Amino acid sequence: MTTEGPRRIHAGRKALVVGIANEHSIAYGCAAAFRELGADVAITYLNEKARAYVDPLARSLECPIYLPLDVSTPGQLEAVFERIAKDWGRLDILVHSIAWAPKDDLQGGLLNCSAEGFAKAMDISCHSFVRMAKLAVPLMKDGGTMFAMSYLGANRVVTNYNVMGPVKAALEAACRYLAYELGPKKIRVHPISPGPLKTRAASGLKDFDLMLNEAMQKAPVGELVDIMDVGFACAYLASPYARRITGDTVYVDGGVNIMA
Ligand SMILES: NC(=O)c1ccc[n+]([C@@H]2O[C@H](COP(=O)([O-])OP(=O)(O)OC[C@H]3O[C@@H](n4cnc5c(N)ncnc54)[C@H](O)[C@@H]3O)[C@@H](O)[C@H]2O)c1
Repeated sequence: MTTEGPRRIHAGRKALVVGIANEHSIAYGCAAAFRELGADVAITYLNEKARAYVDPLARSLECPIYLPLDVSTPGQLEAVFERIAKDWGRLDILVHSIAWAPKDDLQGGLLNCSAEGFAKAMDISCHSFVRMAKLAVPLMKDGGTMFAMSYLGANRVVTNYNVMGPVKAALEAACRYLAYELGPKKIRVHPISPGPLKTRAASGLKDFDLMLNEAMQKAPVGELVDIMDVGFACAYLASPYARRITGDTVYVDGGVNIMA
């Protein structure tokens, strides 16, 4: 899978990618792109049930670090970073590609979202990125790049996106504030906003197929995006070619976001 020569822009770099559920996950596209461009990649799996789907991907990515991570289980996130500190002593790239909300709170409209559901969605889908960033900073000794997956529903009303709209808005704002706080350490932070992709998380949204159809019709490039499009966009942003770019939401959506 790897290639020789100048394309291996991330050779020797260390990346942590969280959020792989299966081969359709956006996180898998990110991990595969960084691996193809030479990085060593650490990945995580949610729990034993999820592990069966992630094991073969960890093998194909030749992951030297592969650990369980449920961000709502105390201590697991710390354990991942302790292992990275012990084995690598550094980290260059962090990809946060996780989101979750209780189904009733997700599908019932924002007005009906419970306080508990809202808080849980915000904790898992947004604040966990802040916690990860905090643990990553001491390891990003020569600077680094952090990514969090957002969606157009953060700043426009997308039918059926519901509570995830405010949650992604908070995530994008968190990225901007972290970009400001970490800029002096040469750490850059990006919200990435992919177009709709048929993944397990997406299947929790009502009428997701309608979103896919609409994106296909609206996209100036006339096609849907795939997970490698997202991965290679992150790989570019983590490269020295993008060293003065930070904080902005980068859309990987075939141009859907520019359309009325
Ligand atoms: N699929 C899309 O259309 C789309 C579009 C834009 C943004 N996104 C975002 O991309 C990210 C990845 O989603 P995906 O579409 O690849 O779906 P996915 O189901 O493949 O990935 C979601 C991941 O979140 C993880 N997760 C959920 N709760 C967790 C917890 N408590 N601890 C740790 N991990 C947890 C799951 O294990 C899974 O790996 C999400 O932030 C999602 O909102 C998705």
